[in-house]
Amino acid sequence: MISNQWYAILPSRAVKKHQIVSVKRLNQELALFRNRAGEVGCVVDQCTHRGAALSHGKMKGDCLSCPFHGLEFDRSGRCVFIPANGKGATDDLSRYNVRSFPVRESNGIIYLWFGDPDKMTDELPFFEDDVNDSDACSEIEDHWHAHYSRCIENQLDVVHLPFVHHNTIGRGNKTLVNGPKVVFVPGGIVTSANNEVDLGQQPKPASECVIKPTYLKFLFPNIWMNHISDTIKVMIYFAPVDDQNTILYIRFYCRATGFKPLNALIAWLGKFGNRIIERQDKRVVITQKPKPSAYRSAENLLSGDGPVIQYRRIRDELKNR
Ligand code: FES
Ligand SMILES: [Fe+2]
Repeated sequence: MISNQWYAILPSRAVKKHQIVSVKRLNQELALFRNRAGEVGCVVDQCTHRGAALSHGKMKGDCLSCPFHGLEFDRSGRCVFIPANGKGATDDLSRYNVRSFPVRESNGIIYLWFGDPDKMTDELPFFEDDVNDSDACSEIEDHWHAHYSRCIENQLDVVHLPFVHHNTIGRGNKTLVNGPKVVFVPGGIVTSANNEVDLGQQPKPASECVIKPTYLKFLFPNIWMNHISDTIKVMIYFAPVDDQNTILYIRFYCRATGFKPLNALIAWLGKFGNRIIERQDKRVVITQKPKPSAYRSAENLLSGDGPVIQYRRIRDELKNR
């Protein structure tokens, strides 16, 4: 994992008031909940008293109460009450504090800060310039038995299109890969497919390629967008579960017509298209070995793998920072 990053980990709708949600993300068992003001809290799902799962507890006001002996914890993991010691107790409870992670919400996504709290940044990675409230949006999710780096690389891979998606988005037998061009943007990279039918011509180098109106944008550490047109976009956030598993949340955004209900219908239909494409990818990506990718590896890469190489290079750089 890259440290000191905001990771998109879960849709906001997954954490309802008065409920405690148990999820595994970034190799940690976590309990997520909301206080009375609706603000999300995220703590390690293990009580500091005798190890019970806090996610099996219940909410008491703003606090999460352990199911075993009722210790109460606030949104920052601070232990605020030990019933067995009584309301009159005045001891310092800090040794019962449970580890918490900073969490924030934006655009219907819960982000978790993974790293040093002193290095926490204000900005959450998102495609603010590409989508807004006028877009209708649908979302599906799927679990892949793959490391999140492989899932991301698959979405930056233009070489696989005529093979994995030969009967859908890769129709036309465009097996020859020009470039692709990769452009660096703040926080990520942009690239686009420039494939052609192979008539014996030489593939063009990246320097002779351009970013097309349909392009892919990736922002570290884990969000991606396929900018299909100015009015249709597909976005994915790749929530890392552990070194072998990722949950993909796939959104379809539409503002193709001036009529909101029609945009919503198109976004709803887009879910089914997304599902078909995503399953074509999943079938192959879950077979890749080793599970996580690496910048320095034994793989024999092609010039068409340029965006994948740039992703690996920057990821490696950020990991080593
Ligand atoms: S294990 Fe949680 S209160 Fe005892
Ligand atoms: Fe694909």
